[in-house]
Amino acid sequence: MPKRINLSPALEEKLLSAQKVVVLSGAGVSAESGISTFRDKDGLWEKFKPEDLATPSAFERNPQLVWEWYAYRRKKIQSVKPNPAHQAIAQMEKFFPEFLLVTQNIDNLHQKAGSKKLVELHGNINRNKCFACEKVISDTKVGSRAVPPLCSCGGYLRPDVVWFGELLHESALELAQRAALEAELFFSVGTSAIVYPAASLPFLAKEAGAFVVEINTEETEISPAVDELLLGKAEEILPGLVEFLKQNGKK
Ligand code: OAD
Repeated sequence: MPKRINLSPALEEKLLSAQKVVVLSGAGVSAESGISTFRDKDGLWEKFKPEDLATPSAFERNPQLVWEWYAYRRKKIQSVKPNPAHQAIAQMEKFFPEFLLVTQNIDNLHQKAGSKKLVELHGNINRNKCFACEKVISDTKVGSRAVPPLCSCGGYLRPDVVWFGELLHESALELAQRAALEAELFFSVGTSAIVYPAASLPFLAKEAGAFVVEINTEETEISPAVDELLLGKAEEILPGLVEFLKQNGKK
């Protein structure tokens, strides 16, 4: 049974009346599944340097190291399951006529939980892309034994994720920005909200009139600006929200 959560009357009213809802998700949503976040105490960027592993120049300098680090993360990610936070977000899309999940996560767990209306801002670790010709290969099977494996053009393959210093896919960002501008209710969940442009979305939504809710185990950069801060674990709070929607007959 989902835990009962205390919602303000304003949020209850928004949950029942909103037609257009956006959820921005970050690494905290996958924490309960066993995937490390980036900036928590045991986060990846506390142990590793992003400039050695997650930039185009790091790959140019040492493609083998970068490929192997992502191969290790890919193996870990493929072995875990979605948690109640992913499942609740997948259910949320059924309650609102217009819904968009904007995720910074590359782990595919939202899709595994059944989310369909989503846009990936930072790519997906389960795809590869050629570093030279940019052809996207939609799974991780590679014919070549080289490390990194080679594309048919002879270039190195790399994971299809966005690295520091790279631009986001324009169409993905545009979709997310448009949805944020139109949203009546916007959730920022499990993200430290410090990596831009993703972190600008809650502010964009707020300025355009949305009711902005943050769900996080701790306060973040955006906490002072949000309408409601639900402090706690996403895997406990989100199922509570879905339960509220069900109990109150939201269709
Ligand atoms: P961070 O590691 O920066 O932040 C994770 C957030 O989740 C923190 O604010 C935690 O307090 C919170 N958190 C942890 N466990 C939680 C839980 N169970 N429930 C709710 N909140 C929880 O991760 P992101 O904000 O996703 O980019 O990082 C943004 C981007 O920075 C990533 O997409 C990645 C990284 O560098 C790229 O790789 C391009």
